[in-house]
Amino acid sequence: MEAVDPVPSGSRVQEPVPWWRRRRRELLEIARKGTPAYVYDLDQIRLHARRLRRLRHARRLFYAVKANAHPAILRALAGEGLGFECVSAGELELVRAALPRLARGRILFTPNFAPRDEYAQAVRAGAWITIDGLHPLEQWSGTLAGADLLLRVDPGRGAGHHRAVTTAGPRTKFGLEPEQAERALALARRANLRVLGLHCHVGSGITDPLVWEQAAGPLLEILARHRRLRVLDLGGGLSVPAGESDLPFDLAGLDRVLGRVRRAAPGVEIWLEPGRFLVAEAGVLLARVTQTKAKGAEHYTGIDAGMNTLLRPALYGAQHPVDVLSCSDSGIRRRTHLVGPICESADFFGCSLMLAPLREGDVVAIGCAGAYGRVMASSYNGREPAREVVIGSGRPDVA
Ligand code: LLP
Repeated sequence: MEAVDPVPSGSRVQEPVPWWRRRRRELLEIARKGTPAYVYDLDQIRLHARRLRRLRHARRLFYAVKANAHPAILRALAGEGLGFECVSAGELELVRAALPRLARGRILFTPNFAPRDEYAQAVRAGAWITIDGLHPLEQWSGTLAGADLLLRVDPGRGAGHHRAVTTAGPRTKFGLEPEQAERALALARRANLRVLGLHCHVGSGITDPLVWEQAAGPLLEILARHRRLRVLDLGGGLSVPAGESDLPFDLAGLDRVLGRVRRAAPGVEIWLEPGRFLVAEAGVLLARVTQTKAKGAEHYTGIDAGMNTLLRPALYGAQHPVDVLSCSDSGIRRRTHLVGPICESADFFGCSLMLAPLREGDVVAIGCAGAYGRVMASSYNGREPAREVVIGSGRPDVA
């Protein structure tokens, strides 16, 4: 398998040519069979899982299934020893369907305002359960009996690439205030429920490892008062480079931070729940040029993927690298806006991109599309979500 690690963990060396440029021919062959299409390279996913497994201070990793729930990806990550973080009964089902023999305890259920019966389902599945409000402890102690619980605490400050993905701090709906955690622990004790640790997740697309240390602070104070708590889950949120000038996530820096947190809470295990970091760079969206248009001073290039296919640019202004796969590079560039066929002006993949002049039928690859792509797709405007294709070799992808 071609999973050689080109970037030493945590180094600040820029990644060489992205895999989708190196494998242009193979991708064009896939595009020939139909676009739009998401293509996921399992070797890339395994490579990223192995980088994370090298973190010395993270004891357990739970993949955040919300980033991409393709069964082949779930199986590849189970094969790398990861557990699964699920936020709904639907995600629990997807994991169980892909991995029917997955051991109990390798699923973590981290819902927010979910109905009671989903907690019951998680208890039956033998999942760890994160409680992020007092309501379940006050009202549903019977449902939670026998489960291993974590309490989600809001450390008071969030982070992330966009305010919509910042999940801690004032006016966010997630977690217990640190003061409420005391009441939650008392309620659990009274109801004979087993709380084994604390949890927080402050946002997604975080570039600075120090954010995890800041988030851990208020939770460490609670751990110091309650020595029976043995787990500190610091969530996901690791960023991936969006543009050519962005640096890879500083994994070595994160490990140093986790080491300091661990020393502050001896005997406590640190868990993480990465989603994006594992799958984003492993996925590309292939699309075909439909039409081009000059209008006023602007030039538009239309493709057969839209905001229904990949919502991130429209929703968050997210940037994804765009490569032209179908024509050889003559060096000529034209400034163009890359747009989809959806009837909204937010239907953009990139503004003022400098791309080789494109014609109807040309194929483009939208990179870093493996996370929060297909899972957020819709059939808006009667356009179905893109098909998915899995490539990559390596070990058998079973747990
Ligand atoms: N754990 C919890 C409790 C979460 O809510 C999330 C993400 C994760 C872990 C994984 O975060 P990650 O490592 O992937 O950053 N749709 C947005 C991202 C939303 C993230 C929601 N929660 C996007 O496309 O950027």
